[in-house]
Formats: sequence, C-alpha cells, structure tokens
Amino acid sequence: MNTHATDMTATTTPMKMATRDVHVFYGKKEAIKGVDIDIDMDNVTAFIGPSGCGKSTFLRTLNRMNDTIPSARVTGTITLDGEDIYDSAMDVVQLRARVGMVFQKPNPFPKSIYDNIAYGPRIHGLATDKAELDRIVEKSLQRAGLWAEVKDRLGDSGTALSGGQQQRLCIARAIAVDPEVILMDEPCSALDPIATAKIEELIHELRGKYAIVIVTHNMQQAARVSQRTAFFHLGDMVEYGETSELFTNPKEEKTRDYITGRYG
Ligand SMILES: Nc1ncnc2c1ncn2[C@@H]1O[C@H](COP(=O)(O)OP(=O)(O)OP(=O)(O)O)[C@@H](O)[C@H]1O
Ligand SMILES: [Mg+2]
Repeated sequence: MNTHATDMTATTTPMKMATRDVHVFYGKKEAIKGVDIDIDMDNVTAFIGPSGCGKSTFLRTLNRMNDTIPSARVTGTITLDGEDIYDSAMDVVQLRARVGMVFQKPNPFPKSIYDNIAYGPRIHGLATDKAELDRIVEKSLQRAGLWAEVKDRLGDSGTALSGGQQQRLCIARAIAVDPEVILMDEPCSALDPIATAKIEELIHELRGKYAIVIVTHNMQQAARVSQRTAFFHLGDMVEYGETSELFTNPKEEKTRDYITGRYG
C-alpha cells in the first residue's frame, strides 16, 4: 500500500517510467511493499534510505535485473513510455539497453577501452561500419567526460584505469547503446572525493538527455545531484517529492528522522 505519494502535479513533466503497486518478494520475504512512482525525463531522481530498505531491489525492477535472481518475484506494473516492461512480448536484452545500469563497483569488461564501449553497439547492430563505430565510441567517451584521458590509449585494458575512470567507462558503456534511462546504484561509493565530484558533474551534464535514477547513501550527494528524491524505509516508499522540499520540509516523520540522522 502506498498512501504517501507526494502530489507533484504542479511540476509535472513527461513521464518516462511509472510504477504502480510494485511488490518484490525474495521467497516469502517481501522486500518492496507496493511502490508507485513516476520518473520523468527532465529530473535526476535520487533513492535514499537506510541500508536494507530496498533501494537496490526496487532500482533493479526498473530494468528487470531481478530476473537474474531466482528467488525474486515482482508484482504490479512498471511501464516505459507507457509500455509494460514485464509483458511477455518485451525483449529483455533490448530493455536493458534502453534502461542501462551502472553498479556500485565499476565493472569494466576485461577488454580494451575501445571494446568496452563498442560491445553494446556491436551486439545491437548500431554501427554499419568501423568509422561509425569509432564515432560512437568517441561520442560516448566524450559524454562520459573520459575522452581526453583515454583517447591515446584506447587499446589498453579497461581494467587498467583508475577506479573513477573505470566508473566513467561504465557510464560511457551504458551511453553507447543510446539508452533512455540510466540507473545508478551508489556509483560513487567506491570512489575518492575527486572522482566522486567528477561523476556528480557528469550527472549534471547528462540530466535531460536521459532519465537518471541514482541510489545514494550520501544525503549531501542526493541534495547536490537530484531534483526529485524518494525516501525508502523497510520496503515502503515513505515520501517522494522535490529534493529541496524533502530535505528542508519533509512531510513524514520517518523522513525527518532519517535526514536529521536519528537513525539509518
Ligand atoms: N538476492 C537476495 N535474496 C534474498 N534477499 C535479498 C536479496 N537481495 C536483497 N535482499 C533483501 O531485501 C531487502 C532489501 O535489500 P536491498 O539490497 O534492496 O536494500 P538496499 O536499500 O539497497 O540496502 P543497501 O543500502 O545496504 O544497499 C533486505 O532485507 C535484503 O536482505
Ligand atoms: Mg543497495
């Protein structure tokens, strides 16, 4: 049950994704207890909440990554441009290109920098020849703010980059297949403050080009990078609204307790 959805009609922009009454079970355990959320194109959405509240679980429902966990079961409705992503007609490989994901720990493939980026476009047949693939690789690395650092070493292994560079490589890899939504699960938690600042800057630049959802434990980060924040607690989405409003004037006591550091 979700009785706390914040009324955001005043600032409504086109919805990219919408979830209705989404529940996730791991075996008998209910990890997400009925979440309704609308994710628009123009804003970065942050998911916050104490450890174990279901942020990653819910994020994974948005591109069906939970399909890879045998005990996980998802109910309810999730749409992308109005299309039910759990419909049997949905091509999951295609879906995960449209809704890309960046993980907590950078996970470049043990391949060259070039091949890390070219991998998706090759699978999806996005380039007709080598020149076009080169252009996609360059553009993706440019967008991810990594081009200047790697343009002379595209043949080096992706795993030989620094942690922050690897994370930008993973973002470039997601971008390369021309996604509509990018999901990031604590993308900076393994990075130092300088690399973190670069990723945050990048999120600002990507805003509006893709719908972006970021899970973060860091409330300052949520305040810096997002315009919408959803607060999760024990599988419920307790509150969802404009980031500035949620942090300065939360409607729910649980949100207030969390953002003032009373628990979590
Ligand atoms: N693969 C799994 N199998 C069984 N239970 C799981 C699995 N993944 C998560 N859970 C459980 O679901 C609940 C939500 O976990 P989830 O990882 O989504 O939380 P989270 O908010 O992302 O936490 P954190 O901030 O620590 O990453 C927890 O109780 C967790 O133990
Ligand atoms: Mg998590």
